[in-house]
Amino acid sequence: MSTKPLKDFREDYGFKDFDIASLHPEPIEQLQKWLDAALHTEGEIEPNAMTLATVDLQGQPMARIVLLKDILDGALVFFTNYLSSKGHELAHNSRCSAVFWWRLSHRQVRVEGIAEKVDGEYATKYFHSRPLGNQLGAIVSPQSQVIPSREVLDRAIVAIEQQLKPGELPSKPDHWGGYRIVPHRFEFWQGHSNRLHDRFQYRKENGTWIIERLAP
Ligand SMILES: Cc1cc2nc3c(=O)[nH]c(=O)nc-3n(C[C@H](O)[C@H](O)[C@H](O)COP(=O)(O)O)c2cc1C
Repeated sequence: MSTKPLKDFREDYGFKDFDIASLHPEPIEQLQKWLDAALHTEGEIEPNAMTLATVDLQGQPMARIVLLKDILDGALVFFTNYLSSKGHELAHNSRCSAVFWWRLSHRQVRVEGIAEKVDGEYATKYFHSRPLGNQLGAIVSPQSQVIPSREVLDRAIVAIEQQLKPGELPSKPDHWGGYRIVPHRFEFWQGHSNRLHDRFQYRKENGTWIIERLAP
């Protein structure tokens, strides 16, 4: 284990050529470009993971990681339990934000938007594309609730498995589905030496994306 104090950990991000001219006019295309680069970077683990922040009824920001599973009509799609904490938070306040961090390319993308539920048919199609164990897990887990033990979940899975006929797929439960985050602001951050990082925001004005450089 390192004995170096946290204050002395410092990564030099070096120089990367990144200016306004290299940005795609459509932020979702720029996100796709950086995501593709991360997906093709060996050692970049789960590059589609994003930290999703919501706000609870008391105004307390709540953040956790979810996986981006699709980009649909310019919106970012993830799947979850609608009755989870995040599900309740989004039902109360659909404003949310998502952050990607790609550590090997020294890049961060921030997205702010409004979350909407995806349609049931689309969610069902994705649900059945998951491994059977994941489908069963989504059915039995009352996500975010206090449970007495892990065995409760294991027993519930065995009970469903016993009911299923060979080759039969379980139905997607109503409590499970996806959200699409319809974005209204993006920020692309590229690490640079001397902490003078490059930051570009896209914000919508009269239906048009405006790109601006922000101080690091
Ligand atoms: C790498 C990673 C990926 C995850 N992906 C998802 C996901 O796609 N959907 C999901 O509901 N939870 C996912 N989780 C679990 C969430 O972080 C979180 O624990 C769970 O959704 C409950 O959050 P909530 O109580 O705030 O609703 C993931 C966790 C990690 C570490």
